[in-house]
Amino acid sequence: MAKEKTKTIFVCSNCGETSPRWLGRCPSCGEWNTMTEDVVVTAPAAKGSARRAGEPRQPGYSIEAKRLSQIATTEERSRIVTHIGELDRVLGGGIVVGSVVLLGGEPGAGKSTLLLQLCGAISQQLEVLYITGEESVRQIKLRAVRLGVREENILLAAETDILAICDLIEQTRPSLVVIDSIQTMHCSEVNSSAGSVSQVKECAARLLSVAKSCEIPTFIVGHVNKDGAIAGPKVMEHIVDTVLYFEGDKTLPYRVLRAAKNRYGSTNEIGMFDMAADGLREIENPSQLLLEGRPLGVSGNCVACTMEGTRPILSEVQALVTKSGFGTPRRTASGFDFNRLNLLLAVLEKRAGYFLGNLDVYLNIVGGLQLDETACDLAACLAVVSSMLDKPLGDTTVAIGEVGLGGEVRSVSNLETRLREAQRIGFTKAIVPKHGLAQLDPKDFAGMQLVGVSYLRQAIQAI
Ligand SMILES: Nc1ncnc2c1ncn2[C@@H]1O[C@H](COP(=O)(O)OP(=O)(O)OP(=O)(O)O)[C@@H](O)[C@H]1O
Ligand SMILES: [Mg+2]
Ligand SMILES: [Zn+2]
Repeated sequence: MAKEKTKTIFVCSNCGETSPRWLGRCPSCGEWNTMTEDVVVTAPAAKGSARRAGEPRQPGYSIEAKRLSQIATTEERSRIVTHIGELDRVLGGGIVVGSVVLLGGEPGAGKSTLLLQLCGAISQQLEVLYITGEESVRQIKLRAVRLGVREENILLAAETDILAICDLIEQTRPSLVVIDSIQTMHCSEVNSSAGSVSQVKECAARLLSVAKSCEIPTFIVGHVNKDGAIAGPKVMEHIVDTVLYFEGDKTLPYRVLRAAKNRYGSTNEIGMFDMAADGLREIENPSQLLLEGRPLGVSGNCVACTMEGTRPILSEVQALVTKSGFGTPRRTASGFDFNRLNLLLAVLEKRAGYFLGNLDVYLNIVGGLQLDETACDLAACLAVVSSMLDKPLGDTTVAIGEVGLGGEVRSVSNLETRLREAQRIGFTKAIVPKHGLAQLDPKDFAGMQLVGVSYLRQAIQAI
C-alpha cells in the first residue's frame, strides 16, 4: 500500500494560493503577510487510477439531473422566524431552513450572546444544538442564566472534533445548530493545527454538507483578523449562504449587525442592538437614539435622513468652520466621505458664493453612522454654511437632497418614507428638492412645513 506523506506548505489566507516556501507577498492576489504555514497529507494515487474525462466511471456510478418543475418546495416551513426583529430583518425575514450563516465579529462584540439569545428565542417550539469550542458548558449556562434564556430545548456540547460533531448533529437532528467558533474546530483527517487555513476550510465544508443533507440551518461563528475580515480562507465566505458581521465599536453607543452576503435576502438592511447586562436589546427607534441629547439652538448642526435598507434613520450632521492658521486649510470628515466633502465645498464656493479657501472645515456625523448616501449632501452643505455664518438652523428642521455640481438640488429616492420618519420624530420643517415635492401631497404631512428648493442658494435662504 502506498504510504501517506506529510508536507509543510504555505497557504494564502486571502485567496488560497499555495507555495512550498514562505513569501512576504502572495504572488496571486498581491496581499502582504497572508501566507500561513500549513501541513498537508498527500496520499500517492494508486497507479492508473486517474480517470480522464469521457472514460467510464466505476460500474453503478451515475448522477441524475432533476427538472426544476419537479422539485418540491415546502414553502410553509422554509423560514424560521426568530422574533428577534433586527436579526430577522438582516436575514431577510427569518432563518432559511438548511442555510449556513457565518457570523463574524471582533472579540467581545457579542457574537456568543446574540446566538444564545437566538437559541432561547426559538427554543419554545424547536430544539437547538449549541456547540462551543471556546467555553465550557458551565460558562454557557452562566450566560444563559444572566440573559434569562429559556433553557428546556437547548442542547449543549463542548467539543472541537468536527467528525464527532457531525455525528452528533446527524443523531440528534436539531432544528438549529450553532458552532462557536470555526477557528477552534479541527478535523483529525487533516494534519494541521486548529485555526489553520486547511482546517477551517475542511471543517466548514463538513458542516455545510451535514447542514444541506439534513436540512438543518447552521450558524458558524468566525473570528476576524486585524483587517476586520473573517480569519481563514476567503473560500469560506463563498461556500456559506450568508455572511453577517457584528460590529461593536468601542466608541459606538450601539452594535450593528450587517449582511456582507445573503443568498436569501438584501444586504442593505442593518440590525441595531444595545448591549446591556441582560443581553442584547433591539433598537427599534434608532433615529430617537441618534438625536438624543443634541444641543439645541447651536449653529453648524443640521439633521439628515439616510436610508439603511428599507429603514429611514435620522442623523445629525455637525460642521465647524474656523479661520485657518496655516496656508492650506484643514478639512476632516468623520462618518462622511472626505472627497464628497471637498466636492460640496467647491460647489458652495463656485455656485453659492461662500468662499472657504482660508477656512478650516471639520465635519462630523454624531452617533457614528456612516452617511455615504448622496441624499445627505444638502444637510452637510447647510451645516457648513450655518457654522460659517454662525446662524442656527432651527432644531426641528431636516434637510434632504442631493447637491449637483451645478449647485442644483436633486431629488432623492424614498422621499416620502424619509419625511414620514421626520414627522414621526416631531420635525416641523423640511427642506427638500422641489422636484420630489411635486409627487407628494402636502396634506399628508400636517404640522410640517415642506420647503421645496431647486438650487443650493434657495436652500441657504430658507434657513
Ligand atoms: N454582566 C454584563 N453586563 C453588561 N455587559 C456584559 C456583561 N457581561 C458581558 N457583557 C458584554 O458582552 C460582551 C461579550 O459578549 P460575547 O461573549 O457574546 O462576545 P463574543 O463576540 O462572543 O466574544 P469572543 O469573540 O471573545 O467569543 C462584552 O464585551 C460585554 O460588552
Ligand atoms: Mg464568544
Ligand atoms: Zn493570495
